[in-house]
Amino acid sequence: MDTSPGTPHRMDPAGGCPHADNARLLERGAVAAVVLPGEVEGMAVLGHEALKEFLAHPEVAKGAEHFTELREGRIAPGWPLATFATVRGMTTADGEDHRRLRSLVSKAFTARRVEELRPRIEELTAGLLDDLRAAAERDGGVADLRRHFAMPLPMGVIGELLGVDAEHRDRLHHLSNQVVATDIGPEKALAANRELVAVLAAVAVARGERPGDDLTSALIAARDEEGDRLSQEELIGTLVLMIIAGHETTLNLLTNAVRALCGHRDQLELVMKGEGGVGWADVVEETLRWDAPVSYFPFRYPVRDLTVDGTVIPKGTPVLAGYSAAGRDPSVHGPDADRFDVTRPGRSGATRHLSLGHGAHYCLGAPLARMEATIALERLFTRFPDLDLAVTEAELSRHSSFVGNSVRALPVRLGTSHG
Ligand code: HEM
Ligand code: HEM
Repeated sequence: MDTSPGTPHRMDPAGGCPHADNARLLERGAVAAVVLPGEVEGMAVLGHEALKEFLAHPEVAKGAEHFTELREGRIAPGWPLATFATVRGMTTADGEDHRRLRSLVSKAFTARRVEELRPRIEELTAGLLDDLRAAAERDGGVADLRRHFAMPLPMGVIGELLGVDAEHRDRLHHLSNQVVATDIGPEKALAANRELVAVLAAVAVARGERPGDDLTSALIAARDEEGDRLSQEELIGTLVLMIIAGHETTLNLLTNAVRALCGHRDQLELVMKGEGGVGWADVVEETLRWDAPVSYFPFRYPVRDLTVDGTVIPKGTPVLAGYSAAGRDPSVHGPDADRFDVTRPGRSGATRHLSLGHGAHYCLGAPLARMEATIALERLFTRFPDLDLAVTEAELSRHSSFVGNSVRALPVRLGTSHG
């Protein structure tokens, strides 16, 4: 990477570990000029304070109509990041429209509903740990934790949340993997997207006929209310969003937490013994900070030229939210920001990291993600206290995208099973 001042940083579509580049960029400033795939000029906000300010700024928008190059037709058809900009729904809505779409879901996605999912999450976790052990027994004691545990868990939980009948679950799982896959062609991805929409429409029909205490039924009730509060298209779009947004993110969090703990066994020990009041929730928060599951999230656009930490971000520029960089910003997290430390003071304050977003678009699924990850890690290490990576950290192959931050597979040796 060229680090001379003013040279834009080339975002690597092949992903890779972001932290070395992040540290170099942060040394130059809180805001960096970047080149996006397809030679599109953009910027990234990486400093913690700058990102916090930017995410909550009233003159920063998410609607694609603010993306100058796109509006002027200068973005090539099939641009790999187009979907993030142009997908319709909560993530690309602003102002009143965003409040309407979000409030319908948040009303149905209450703390009570999340808490009610706890027993089902525990049950799903237990079942998946059995599957994980079976997979390891088939394969000389080694199993891919991502494939057999960290991936099916979020999908199972979202299935519960949305009220998806058993007959549709496997298909949904497969399709949502395809939609976010970066290693399949555009035609396949498009076909998967179409089918995902069709399956979710069938789920909505089923819940319309037999409503339950689930999010889909609650959204259908909103759709059918007087005053067009939610269109059919928005209903399906919201279901797609819940599946996509809750999937890769939670998967990466679990993967990164297991890697961090295996690489810092003294800290694993502390947590297992519950010493110093350190618990699994602290592991979750420290992992979110230290190795953010969402690395660079596309896009926001300033609606006028905006100066952030001394750097001008021109109106209409596509800006990435640099979560993985902000989590290790030494000006907020101290000179040892790059050290994984579950005992870090202020660790449980959600204010200490921005990895679940900030401002109007703050992660809607945060309470669910936190509960799910806490249960999953606690159960995993209680059952397999000797669990360890089956290869070295350096041998793990990285995720091929700069949006997410994780590895492709996580081969682990389970060791003795307790229970
Ligand atoms: C560890 C897991 C998760 C992480 C790290 C995460 C991270 C994030 C981040 C960073 C954002 C803000 C994106 C931006 O605009 O810059 C976000 C938004 C969102 N997340 Fe999550 N998320 C997680 C889990 C979930 C789950 C489980 C769900 C739902 C079941 C979910 C649903 C959403 C939705 C709907 C939004 C959009 C909110 C809006 O635009 O108003 N997330 N998430
Ligand atoms: C781990 C982080 C994430 C990764 C690796 C990831 C990856 C992807 C990929 C590869 C696509 C397909 C793009 C295309 O079809 O061209 C996609 C679509 C999408 N993502 Fe993510 N994403 C992540 C996090 C999030 C979060 C936090 C949100 C919500 C705030 C989100 C919302 C969406 C939406 C709405 C779509 C479009 C779905 C559709 O096709 O209708 N993603 N994501």
